[in-house]
Amino acid sequence: MKLINKDVIVVGAGAAGLFCAAEAAKRGRSVTVLDHAKRIGGKILMSGGGRCNFTNMYASAENFLSDNPHFCKSALSRYTQWDFVGLVSEYGIAYHEKTLGQLFCDNSAKDILNMLLKECDKAGATITTQCEITAITKRDDGFELETSKGSYQCESLVIATGGLSMPKLGASPFGYKVAEQFGLSVKPTRAGLVPFTLHEQDKSVLADLSGISLDARASCNDTNFNENILFTHRGLSGPAVLQISSFWHPGQAVEFDLFPHGDLHQELTSAQVQSPDSQLATVLAKHYPKRYVQTALPYLGLENKPLKQYQGKQLQQVADAFHQWQLKPNGTEGYRTAEVTLGGVDTNQLSSKTMMAKDVEGLYFIGEVVDVTGWLGGYNFQWAWSSGWVAGQEA
Ligand code: FDA
Repeated sequence: MKLINKDVIVVGAGAAGLFCAAEAAKRGRSVTVLDHAKRIGGKILMSGGGRCNFTNMYASAENFLSDNPHFCKSALSRYTQWDFVGLVSEYGIAYHEKTLGQLFCDNSAKDILNMLLKECDKAGATITTQCEITAITKRDDGFELETSKGSYQCESLVIATGGLSMPKLGASPFGYKVAEQFGLSVKPTRAGLVPFTLHEQDKSVLADLSGISLDARASCNDTNFNENILFTHRGLSGPAVLQISSFWHPGQAVEFDLFPHGDLHQELTSAQVQSPDSQLATVLAKHYPKRYVQTALPYLGLENKPLKQYQGKQLQQVADAFHQWQLKPNGTEGYRTAEVTLGGVDTNQLSSKTMMAKDVEGLYFIGEVVDVTGWLGGYNFQWAWSSGWVAGQEA
């Protein structure tokens, strides 16, 4: 088979890979993107419930987890959320802020994928799908790749194969293996932004609450998020749970404040004065769905009786049970449903300005394969754009 020569080969036609390919091609580099999947951009299309939360107005280094929290600063400041918003606007893609600075397409995530494909096409970057890469060899002047679609040679090789989440959408450990082949270490990986599963004693009770969503503050390891939690038939999900899952380690408890915007003790004591004959459940049902209250009281070990029968510290104990609900998940749903993979290629071995491996000339890692993981809310795509853009200026 003939040898195809390119200046730049990008492996992985996801958010980071496509964006980087277009940028490198705009500089006049000949660029090809290789992907083993049949259909590309699967995660973009699924993201944000089909509307792609493509960035966050407030994106900054504080919204990312990494062994080196400073690493992402350079790329995020060289290509910002406003740069990407500018591009989205240039393409006339309508968008809106849903909540907390999260920007979503008005119509469809397809608008973002089509924009990336147009950017590649305009700049002359080509894309080859269903291409398995079987070997990579370093040469003096670049790299040689053996693939199911022939042999390639390139000066710069950009690895944009993402993390391990959602194997159904093409996720693979390829990027980590390439890193290790070239002597770069990989920080241990685990599923992030993922629902919790529960021990049987919790699940058997809480599964009945499936579909109920509550306002909450979820806390673990000195981090907390004020958003909703959602009871499901498998365990616990919702934005606050997904967020805190990235900070949680197996065996730890998560604390939920289920009355995050007020003082439940005060509510209960004033209700006790105003309507002493009211049942506790009746008063709580003013703040929570009735079905939740009926299940929560016995589950939390609380009695339902008229408020006048609560003495001394008893109302405080009731309030504490809701303000400080401690739950020990038995695990997470894992990579099958996780939105992201924590850990990845060690940032200490990459240049934060270019994303090139410090000790391997011409080898770049971008996007989720790198040990930089965003919170829920458009941050992960912003990292894909920012890291892809900086590599695209150099590769
Ligand atoms: P990405 O995973 O997008 O792309 C990797 C590409 O590499 C894929 O095309 C894959 O086929 C290819 N590949 C893998 N192994 C290969 C191999 N061996 N050979 C060749 N190709 C290979 N983020 C956000 O900011 N806002 C949001 O709304 C959402 N929503 C969301 C929903 C769901 C369901 C998921 C799973 C994830 C999100 N995310 C998100 C996270 C976001 O999708 C993710 O962080 C980015 O897509 C990462 O972009 P990358 O380009 O790094 O990897």
